[in-house]
Parts: sequence; structure tokens; C-alpha cells
Amino acid sequence: MRMVDLIEKKVSGGVLSEEEIAYIVKGFTDGTIPDYQMAAFQMAVVFQGMTDRETADLTMAMMHSGDVVDLSDLRGIKVDKHSTGGVGDTTTLVIAPLVAACGGTVAKMSGRGLGHTGGTLDKLESIPGVNVELPMDRFKEIVNEIGVAVIGQTGNLVPADKKMYALRDVTSTVRSIPLIASSIMSKKLAAGTDAIVLDVKTGTGAFMSTVEEAEKLAHLMVSIGKLVGRECVAIITDMNQPLGLAVGNALEVREAIELLSGKIPAGDPLYEVCMLLGTHMMMLSKLADSEVEAREKLETALSTGAGLRKLREMVAAEGGDPSYIDIDRINELCSVKTIINVYPKRSGYISAMNAERIGTAAQILGAGRATKEESIDPSVGLIMKKRLGDFVRADEPLCIMYVNDENKLDAALRMFHSAFEYSGKKPAYHPMVYDVVRA
Ligand code: URA
Ligand code: CA
Repeated sequence: MRMVDLIEKKVSGGVLSEEEIAYIVKGFTDGTIPDYQMAAFQMAVVFQGMTDRETADLTMAMMHSGDVVDLSDLRGIKVDKHSTGGVGDTTTLVIAPLVAACGGTVAKMSGRGLGHTGGTLDKLESIPGVNVELPMDRFKEIVNEIGVAVIGQTGNLVPADKKMYALRDVTSTVRSIPLIASSIMSKKLAAGTDAIVLDVKTGTGAFMSTVEEAEKLAHLMVSIGKLVGRECVAIITDMNQPLGLAVGNALEVREAIELLSGKIPAGDPLYEVCMLLGTHMMMLSKLADSEVEAREKLETALSTGAGLRKLREMVAAEGGDPSYIDIDRINELCSVKTIINVYPKRSGYISAMNAERIGTAAQILGAGRATKEESIDPSVGLIMKKRLGDFVRADEPLCIMYVNDENKLDAALRMFHSAFEYSGKKPAYHPMVYDVVRA
């Protein structure tokens, strides 16, 4: 087999066999296929696409490029949840403990934030003492003891994706739906859980800017799951504004604690997306017979404080100080030099809110990183005071910024204000959830 022939086949719109795809992934991972050929191949996929079967073969080849986690010695149905990346999305810190409090087995490997999106690991590390770089044995021990652990990726998982993604990032080939689906699913499958709930975001803060693209990605990922025998459900949720009100690390932990303490009502977008993700995690875990029953169980775990206690247990198991998992004490982690009210440039209905720019504003303040090497400031960020469609007067704050380095404030404010559009008319309502996609 020659790589140049396989590139030619894809450029001409051909369909590659399982062996051909395995050859490409193996050769690129071990270095016998050079970057320029892989880049050409990925660009061909951007234009010619892949069939569902090719995408599943690519996913499996990538999954087997490194270690595959074996969770078979853990009790129960192991369930994971994955988001394609959002702003103000602290759902993992709410539903991982809530589902565990209902008897679920939540074994989750998470990522760090990059660019405008936050990462669960960074949020957890804002709690003093937490160590998310745990070895596999300890990860499994914690899951067996308390039903939930969220850690960083351990071992050599999907090295093919690391190389392929780095190349896509600099050759403008990230956008291909088959490449995104195989990238995400290879990592989820390698992480070894039986069931996966996917949260596919759509809107101004998401990879998929339209609902149609998000539908395609969701259907493709669910069908890959089915082809390889894993239970998989995807929900498509709105990212035309931050999901929660908090954007930052300790600030998002605080919002998760508020939710788990019953301070955020049903109907709130973060609450509803948490309940929906949690409901499907419960269903795939066979912990409820119906979605209504699943939600009732989750809401009971919420109102009794069982979910909050579970988060506290998880933080303690990961080396953190559990006393911070408390509505009063968490504020200590959110203390900054300056708190600034940010007023709108004009009054009116908020007709557009670019979630990516709001995330980037928080990143500029120090809540995120532009490159993998940067460090983050756990306490900075912003708290939104308005939602899309709200009317705002010129003397009402749009958000409160939590600032430690005032040199960053001007750039953060410019970025933040560029996210907003105003109108004299109340804009059309944006649903929070567009669809649920099942196998
Ligand atoms: N997230 C991933 O992990 N991979 C992609 O290709 C896009 C988003
Ligand atoms: Ca996230």
C-alpha cells in the first residue's frame, strides 16, 4: 500500500477500506507517513467526506493507536459524559456527583480548557489540594469506593488523535464532521466506559455553529457508538450564550455548589441541561425505567443534599480540602483584588451574545489559556447578570468581572463588549435544547 494512492483515492471521492484506514492511522502514528501526506489526506476528507463506515473504521483505528482503558473490574454500568466544549458549562461538576448519588458509576476522564472554553480539570484544581493527575489504579479505587471520579487522561490514550489534531489545527482541517466525530469518539471509546452521553453544543461559542451541523455530528457519533457496541445518546444544546451565569474556574465551582445546594431553580438553563444529561446517564445506567423517574431520582438527590455530599467525597478522595464544597466557604476561593460592574454600551434588548467572545474575555482576565503552556488564575472571570433576550438599561450591569491583574482589564472589556448586539424589539426565543439523538 502507498499513502499517495490512498490520498488519490479520497481526492477522487473513493471509499477507503478498513485495512486502508488502519494503514494510514498506524503509519502516521509511528512516523512512517509524514505530516504533509496526512495533511493532504485530511484536506481531502474535508472536501470529500467519509461514509459512516469509514468514520467508524477511522475511529477504531485511532482508538487502538494507544492504550485502551479496561474498566471491566469496576462494578455496575460505567457511564461517561462528554461535551463538545462550551462557555459557562459546569454540568460535569453537577451531574457526575448527582448520578453517583443515585447509584451510578461515573468514571470520567476530562480535559483542560483551551481558548474560550473552560475545562473541568482546571475548575476542580481551583479547590486547594485537588490532584487530578491520578494513576489508573487509584482512579478505579475511587470509582469503586464512592461511585465517581473525574481525572485527567492517564496513560498513552489515542496518540493518533494528538498528532492528527495538532496537524488539523494548523491546516484548517478541524471543521470536517467525520474528523471531529472520530477524534471525539476514539478518545471516549478508549476511556473504556459502557455508556456515553454526549452534549453537542451549537451556536456562537461552539464548533458547530448551526443546528444542522450539530445534528450531523450527533447522529454520526451515536451511530459510531452503536457500530462498536457502546450505548450512546447525544443531546444538542444551545451555546449562543454562556450556559450558566459564571465563567471562570472557582466561579463555576461556586455555581455548581449553588445548584447542588438547591439555590438554582428548575427552568434555569444550567439546571435544565444538567437534568437532561443526568436523565440520559441514568437511563443508560439502567437506574430508572423512564425519563420521568430518572429526573425524580436526580431531583431527590439534589434536594436531600446527597449530590453535594458526593461532590465533597470526590474532592476529598482526589486530595482536595472538602470543606470548600460549601456554599459559604467557596466564596473564599473567588476573592480577587477588584470586582467591576460592566455596563452595556447602550440600553435595549440583548439580541445577540457571542459566547466565544465572552469566554475569551474571561480567558484574557486569566481564567483560561491561549496556549497549552499558560497557567491560569483560578479566582478570576465573570458573572453574567443578563441573558439573551433580556432588556438591559444603560445603568444596569451586564456582568461583574472578577479581576486580579488590572493591566488585562481593557482588552477583556473590549472583547466582552464586542460580544453584544442590542435591538429595540424583543428578539426571538432561543431554545436551550434542540434535540435528543438516540441510536
Ligand atoms: N474536540 C475534539 O476532541 N476533537 C475535535 O476534532 C473537535 C473537538
Ligand atoms: Ca466543559
